[in-house]
Amino acid sequence: MDKLVIEGGRPLFGEISISGAKNAALPLIAATLLAPGLHTLRNVPNLRDTRTISRLLESFGACVTSAADGVMTVNADNITNLEASYELVKTMRASVLVLGPLLARFGRARVSLPGGCAIGARPIDFHLQALQKMGVRLELAAGYVDAVVDGTLQGAPIFFDIPSVTGTENILMAAVLAKGTTIIKNAAREPEVGNLVEMLQAMGADIEGKDSDLLTVRGVSRLKAVDSSVIPDRIETGTYLIAVGAAGGDVTVNNCRPNHLPSLLHKLRSAGLTIEEGDTSIRVVRNGPLKSVDVQTRPYPGFPTDLQAQIMALMAMTDGGLSVIHETIFENRFMHVAELLRLGANIRVDGRSAIVKGTGGFTGAKVMATDLRASASLVIAALAAKGVTEISRIYHLERGYDNLAGKLRAIGARVQQMPE
Ligand code: UD1
Repeated sequence: MDKLVIEGGRPLFGEISISGAKNAALPLIAATLLAPGLHTLRNVPNLRDTRTISRLLESFGACVTSAADGVMTVNADNITNLEASYELVKTMRASVLVLGPLLARFGRARVSLPGGCAIGARPIDFHLQALQKMGVRLELAAGYVDAVVDGTLQGAPIFFDIPSVTGTENILMAAVLAKGTTIIKNAAREPEVGNLVEMLQAMGADIEGKDSDLLTVRGVSRLKAVDSSVIPDRIETGTYLIAVGAAGGDVTVNNCRPNHLPSLLHKLRSAGLTIEEGDTSIRVVRNGPLKSVDVQTRPYPGFPTDLQAQIMALMAMTDGGLSVIHETIFENRFMHVAELLRLGANIRVDGRSAIVKGTGGFTGAKVMATDLRASASLVIAALAAKGVTEISRIYHLERGYDNLAGKLRAIGARVQQMPE
């Protein structure tokens, strides 16, 4: 296992380029299962999670190739196995995204239940209930969901109690080949869902309502292989913007979509940073004191839960300011707090709220990464901290950040990756 050693307290300057979005690449890769032929996906980030879903597709019989330039090809002509094993699913919950496409094309699938997760229970009941409404018979046994389509997959009215991102994606992928019309109400509006809708439309699917909370899908009898691109990662973008806010400096983040980060950019401006938006770039400059802002995580276009830990690290650095951070999406997503305290933060957790009193900065220490975004918050704190911080268990970061250490070094950070 590797650790990151970061010598903090150095402002960051220069340019950084954003990779494709993990959370868009995963459903796009899963969607290739819907049609035979050779699919080409571009701007696929080089991450542990994208490698995991590729291995999952290979375990079904698909041929997957990945090149260093982010081009992935998938040929799903010869699918011979319809079981997603526990060994693969346990390392990545998003493996459940194969359920919809396998049922749509082959009428059956066996997928291991994802099990516990570091940031709360995270059930998949919405996915399963919606599939049942579409005519899928489910049996839960030995830790697996056995799913079989009774007759033909049928379009149905679906309502999500909470707009679930992967739930919406799974049902979209099931609905595109179902008989009749599926209407998804209270659908997730995250840009990653929009990216999947675009790919499915290019494949020949009939979908209305892209980027809205009401999606209408009229099933078609077959789809074709396509050439699609993964959108830039808004969470990676946000992480680097916050890092510059914490460490100070002047950095231009390229190859991103400023319009996918409305809530974060608003908060960063309120926190005292200068933000200049281009069409595909964002310049961030810290040239004054940081101010406290309150944050509530919300479904898109609200503040993303995947940036909650990172903004907390920034708020912990204000000069005595008070910030309340309220997590509404996941019930147990404050694991970074204990580690930020080790770096000198003053944070009290009360249920789903964290009350953050700025201490003016951090001091380097040994800390441990707990989950993907919690780890990112520790990197941010370490970049700003006086002295050296060692972050162990960084395999979490490798799930979601393409070449993190290299990108940070390119803007002047002192970051080394070495064996623990
Ligand atoms: C996706 C993202 C994840 C992000 C999250 C919220 C991917 C691969 N992952 O996760 O990075 O943090 O959206 O933006 O895209 N829920 C249920 N039952 C369900 C499904 C969800 O109760 O069947 C609840 C969840 O516990 C949570 C809320 O709905 O409280 C939203 O979760 P959801 O949008 O489904 O998260 P994921 O799709 O798993």
